[in-house]
Amino acid sequence: MFEKVTQAPADPILGLTEEFRNDPRTNKINLGVGIYKDEAGATPILNCVKKAEKILLETETTKNYLSIEGNAEYAQLVQELLFGADHEIVTSKRAKTAQAPGGTGALRIGAEFLFRQGISKKVWISNPTWVNHFQVFGVAGMETAEYCYYDPAGKNLDFDGMLESLSAAVPGDVVLLHGCCHNPTGVDPSLEQWEVLAKFCAERKLLPFFDFAYQGFGSGIEEDAAGLRTFAKYNKELLVASSFSKNFGLYNERVGAITVVTTDAEIALRAFSQVKTTIRANYSNPPSHGAAVVATVLKDPALRAEWVAEVKAMRDRIWEMRELFVQKLKAKGIKQDFNFITEQNGMFSFSGLNKEQVTRLNKEFAIYIVGSGRISVAGMTKNNIDALIDGIAAVI
Ligand code: LMR
Repeated sequence: MFEKVTQAPADPILGLTEEFRNDPRTNKINLGVGIYKDEAGATPILNCVKKAEKILLETETTKNYLSIEGNAEYAQLVQELLFGADHEIVTSKRAKTAQAPGGTGALRIGAEFLFRQGISKKVWISNPTWVNHFQVFGVAGMETAEYCYYDPAGKNLDFDGMLESLSAAVPGDVVLLHGCCHNPTGVDPSLEQWEVLAKFCAERKLLPFFDFAYQGFGSGIEEDAAGLRTFAKYNKELLVASSFSKNFGLYNERVGAITVVTTDAEIALRAFSQVKTTIRANYSNPPSHGAAVVATVLKDPALRAEWVAEVKAMRDRIWEMRELFVQKLKAKGIKQDFNFITEQNGMFSFSGLNKEQVTRLNKEFAIYIVGSGRISVAGMTKNNIDALIDGIAAVI
């Protein structure tokens, strides 16, 4: 029976990581997948996480199943992180949050819930976007369409194009937005643009769905929620898929959450009953550890302060690498303007390197970059940056 199965193409991001792992060259550099590296090139466990894990090791008394929706304390803390503890959405209880296995799991649960409940059949996704978005929403049954987002010539947001393409969306269509640190471009709307977009979606009755995987990697934990909070002002209903892979460094613990914001607490409970049915059918109930770590950190003022400082340190190091990268390209005599790299947010930049250049960097210099030209600035270090600059200088 299985002879009919055809070979699937390698995943453009995780397939590259596999290739990187198997590459015997000792000078290899991975700017493919979005994982944070410290100055030594390691992806460390945050101190606040280590401390929380110690607490959990000593205090945990059972490995009994969690409920279908997961850890309730975690759900509350996630909402407070998204909207602010005193926000009306949180206090009125018109939002419900379920723990999910990573941001991907959260997106999938949200998409399937919307589709199965007949709320939405189509999702509008930015061009370009994280490649997995198409697959996640497609497998959940939704039709996918693209809206303009990035202007490759100006290397910035094509805001007029965005509004123009979203004009074709009809009431009930989902608009998928990156909460901050757009993946793959690193280009986010300004506060004024968020405001316009939020009103635009509300007027047209489009359903905003935020993919929020990089909170804290742009300007700060609170600051990065500005787009979402602006949307919440005008749009009574929305969804958020949170991920704590990056800002807690909990990549392999798969910690995420799906938040459904409705118009009142009663509707929220009803909607949530169907979110739970979706979870039950997919993985029954979530794994405990990662969310317990996040909750332990967020509810303890000292651990929370340490976390905020650790996120800032990661953010600052990436900014330093952006500056150094551009500086070194100039020093190497490269005429092409790369200044835009210092204006983009988060882990990624859309370098403008084309497929052929990306392939040459891989083959000749053991430098791994996603085929679209997306580079993970978080993978640059003071130790590998000179080799990187040499490679880029050779191919452009
Ligand atoms: C990325 O975009 O590199 C990360 O979100 C990892 C992934 O799963 O693709």
